[in-house]
Amino acid sequence: MKNLDKVGKEIASLRLKIRQADYCYYVLSDPEISDKAYDDLLRDLKFLEKDNPQLITPDSPTQRVAQGISSGFKTVKHREKMLSLDNTYSIQELKEWEEKIKRMLKREVALDYVVEPKIDGVSCSLTYKNGAFLLGTTRGDGQAGEDVTPNLKTIKSIPLRLSKNYPQLLEVRGEVFMSKKDFAKINKERIESKETVFANPRNATSGSLKLLDSKLVAKRHLRCLVHSYGWVDDADFTNHKQFLKRISTWGLPIDFNSKHCQSIKQVIDYCLRWEKQRDSLDYEVDGIVVKVNSFSLRRQLGSTMKSPRWAVAYKFPAHQATTKIAKIEFGVGRTGIITPVAILEPIECGGVTISRATLHNFDEIQRLDIRNKDTVLIERAGEVIPKIIKVISSKRKGKEKKVLIPTKCPVCSGKVAKEAQVEVYLYCLNPDCPAQLKKSVLHFISRNALDIEGMGESVVAELVDRKIIKTLADIYLLKKEDLLSLPLFKEKRANNLIQAIIGSKQRSLSRLLYGLGIRHVGEKAAMLLADNFKNIDKLLLLKEEDLTAISEIGPTMALSIVNYFAQPQTKKMINLLKKLGISTKELNKPLLDNSFSGLTFIFTGELNSIARNQAKEIIQKKGAKVVSTVSKNTDFVVVGKNPGSKFSKAKALGVRIVYEDEFLKLIK
Ligand code: IVH
Repeated sequence: MKNLDKVGKEIASLRLKIRQADYCYYVLSDPEISDKAYDDLLRDLKFLEKDNPQLITPDSPTQRVAQGISSGFKTVKHREKMLSLDNTYSIQELKEWEEKIKRMLKREVALDYVVEPKIDGVSCSLTYKNGAFLLGTTRGDGQAGEDVTPNLKTIKSIPLRLSKNYPQLLEVRGEVFMSKKDFAKINKERIESKETVFANPRNATSGSLKLLDSKLVAKRHLRCLVHSYGWVDDADFTNHKQFLKRISTWGLPIDFNSKHCQSIKQVIDYCLRWEKQRDSLDYEVDGIVVKVNSFSLRRQLGSTMKSPRWAVAYKFPAHQATTKIAKIEFGVGRTGIITPVAILEPIECGGVTISRATLHNFDEIQRLDIRNKDTVLIERAGEVIPKIIKVISSKRKGKEKKVLIPTKCPVCSGKVAKEAQVEVYLYCLNPDCPAQLKKSVLHFISRNALDIEGMGESVVAELVDRKIIKTLADIYLLKKEDLLSLPLFKEKRANNLIQAIIGSKQRSLSRLLYGLGIRHVGEKAAMLLADNFKNIDKLLLLKEEDLTAISEIGPTMALSIVNYFAQPQTKKMINLLKKLGISTKELNKPLLDNSFSGLTFIFTGELNSIARNQAKEIIQKKGAKVVSTVSKNTDFVVVGKNPGSKFSKAKALGVRIVYEDEFLKLIK
């Protein structure tokens, strides 16, 4: 056996060579050694580490893929809040943004900027301690994200160790994404293995980052580019350009398409150029990020609660394309809603092949006068499945057929009906419709409901089709053998799923109520019900007036809840759930803060540190109502910068006026 010192040196030298090769290949896209030479280095390193496991360090290139499956992700608070960006949608708005910040800075001279493609991916935070990659998280709600370190470690462009002169502590932010090519490849494989396809590269990325098995993540070939930072010990750079240069010398991946601009004119040229050629990039971008270069000016400008004032996104217009409707199909949702879907002749739209578009409901078909075989204009706004904007009627040949509203369920052939005069939706009335059951199960196990991991769409479809699951309660009767009889299920995956199912038995009553999928009952209503009734047994005996007595519950929701719990099959299922040990009582303290209940608010003028929508949401969650006309019954008028006539009216009526500072204290 070689002496340990010598082996240590050999290991260090191999790691350095591999790191260097990763950097050239994944960061610079300029490989220096052949694939074969790379594989040889990695094989030699693995070999030496196998014989000398005491020399394995977490930042070794062999440690990119973690062994085993993690049980979930911890939530970690960000050192500095991860903000979002304000958007502009035209060159005019971009110019106005510059004028605004110049006014704030009281500056007449030109500002300089750095501009970068706005990558349509998933933001992440990467923390390095003494040069080693320590923690990688998602953005989450901006305050705290999920610790997805093992998954981020699989991304070869993220160095596990920084090279030379790095700070002791560094927290950078970037975008994780999937190239268009890898996205197309993954979806092709998913179609072949009958799995549901991802709607776009961003969904594919976020789905990949949430996988519990980092071996699978490694196969997704995710990429990352760093664009900002949260924390740097002893930063010696004073502007963004220097920052990018410096982090690049540490081995971090930056977007080489970024540019330093000396004026807004140059910024505009850059935006317009990329707007034209955005499809030439091998990753999806939805705009350009414009950033004030100087850090001292950034400090002067500061941030609102939501976004920095020193940066703004110039959003590209949505991608549009024209194509032909091949046929119209009908999908059946969880509550039995029948949704028309247009199957399109595949068309490339913004680098993604589009082959279907939702039509929402039958009124939409009538409104747009969509007919089978019509040529239509579609629009893909960012991530979502495209919308049909209009029919190109000049392309009609006279053979296009009107869409017939189905007279029976397209899946189970059950009876269908419009629920009420006002409803534009058509429903399948068969409670045992397999399409509805599949969607109900997926809703029941979803994150905000019972949160059962490891049971994807294809598994649910198999279990329902094989009649192993006939009601939601059957999820808790699943046996390992049932799962092992499904394709792709091995011992380990089956054990994990059974454990996840057992683990979900003690969720809160509000999650269970939400998961049951009662029509008109969303998460907030489920919380209200759990708060007010505490025990599912009480809900089984409810009358409409018990519900409408709660101010937030209107007659439609009340009727829907009463009808749901009055059904014999509901009663039977709930009894079974109880027998199977599922918690049906609310043990926690009240979930909703009703401190503003009964109060009405009006907003006028521009708020500085919080977006108006966010402010509204906060007070609405506390039970307040936001109205738009001032009357003597209004309780508060929140006044921001440049208020309108509501301000003077409020003063005249003697309504209580609160300015921004006071409002912020009020909602704390
Ligand atoms: S800078 C807000 N630069 O866009 C703090 N963000 O809509 C400064 N994004 O969550 C962010 N490409 O993750 C910056 N070149 C880029 C970006 C970028 C994509 C993301 C970012 C942020 C989101 C805001």
